[in-house]
Amino acid sequence: MGNLRRGFAFVVMAGLLFHGIAFAAEGDGMIRGGPFSLRDHRGEVVSDQEFRGKFMLIYFGYTHCPDVCPTGLSVMSDALLSLGEAAKAVQPLFITFDPERDTVEVLARYMRHFHPSFLGLTGSREAVFAAAEAYGVDVSATFAANTPEIDYSMNHSAFTYLVAPDGRLRSMYREGIDGEKMAAAIRKHLAE
Ligand code: NI
Repeated sequence: MGNLRRGFAFVVMAGLLFHGIAFAAEGDGMIRGGPFSLRDHRGEVVSDQEFRGKFMLIYFGYTHCPDVCPTGLSVMSDALLSLGEAAKAVQPLFITFDPERDTVEVLARYMRHFHPSFLGLTGSREAVFAAAEAYGVDVSATFAANTPEIDYSMNHSAFTYLVAPDGRLRSMYREGIDGEKMAAAIRKHLAE
């Protein structure tokens, strides 16, 4: 899996100041996923428990992402279309790690670009980062010198996570996979 170190780091360009907030490491470094309770893009509170009995297909990102996130979500949308009827057994989720900018309203507009079964999830910084940490997501933010509060980009790992109906992480798909391949991989798990 490569680098399993989890961290959220702010890189402030103005002073080249580096300020890291390390996540507490889990015991053995294994990525397992974990529970979450967040708010979806329709304003409803949702937790992972509501999706027991379905597969969850989860992507962590942020709506200001210029390329990686839109591509990842498009691939997931393609995979769901490719799955056809079988996609009913899969709940796609987009969890933002930029809740300051990604409000319910912003997510509602953003999710229109992707498969209609997607739910976009946001919440407190603490809640979204607890979820991201459970999935071993690496995020670092780069802030602009002049308008750091609003103008920042976030580098991040870009896996798509498949979670089985029992809530256990089943598979991770790398950035660069296409929708057909993702659908074929998901199909195998649906058949288990
Ligand atoms: Ni992104």
